[in-house]
Amino acid sequence: MTSRLQIGVWLLGLGLLVACDSSDPKPATGGGPVPAEFQVGETTFNANCAACHGKQAAGTDHGPPLVHKIYEPHHHGDQAFQLAAANGVKAHHWEFGNMPKIDGVTPENVDQIVKYVRWLQRQAGIQ
Ligand code: HEC
Repeated sequence: MTSRLQIGVWLLGLGLLVACDSSDPKPATGGGPVPAEFQVGETTFNANCAACHGKQAAGTDHGPPLVHKIYEPHHHGDQAFQLAAANGVKAHHWEFGNMPKIDGVTPENVDQIVKYVRWLQRQAGIQ
């Protein structure tokens, strides 16, 4: 017997599933567009850093999120980004292994990347 009650319970379950989905963590930007001034940084980041640090610097299996308290400006200033790209990083905060130096980027590219990452951090309430 398929009563209205059963259908009602089924619909309720479906509703809960949908509700749970929408409470998944939002991307740092809240899904909003990246302001024009940070788009060069975003493109450069996606091309050179996102393979390990993830889309929107949210982290992957190969590298940590840069949108993280550890990387706020007071702990890792902009110079830390320049040094990381130029020389690589010896693993010290995480267990992902070392970061290789990134040959494809100039200091100007890294400046743009830092602006983008700082913006992501601000969106996430870090700083
Ligand atoms: C092949 C993977 C990989 C790529 C590509 C990569 N990183 Fe990293 N990065 C890492 C890992 C792993 C760490 C964490 C090391 C630790 O502290 O354990 C790290 C750490 C960092 C840090 C922290 C440095 C510090 O002083 O602790 C910065 C900043 C950084 N990366 C920026 C970048 C930028 C900018 C790019 C692109 C130009 C980039 N990374 C590309 C893997 C990568």
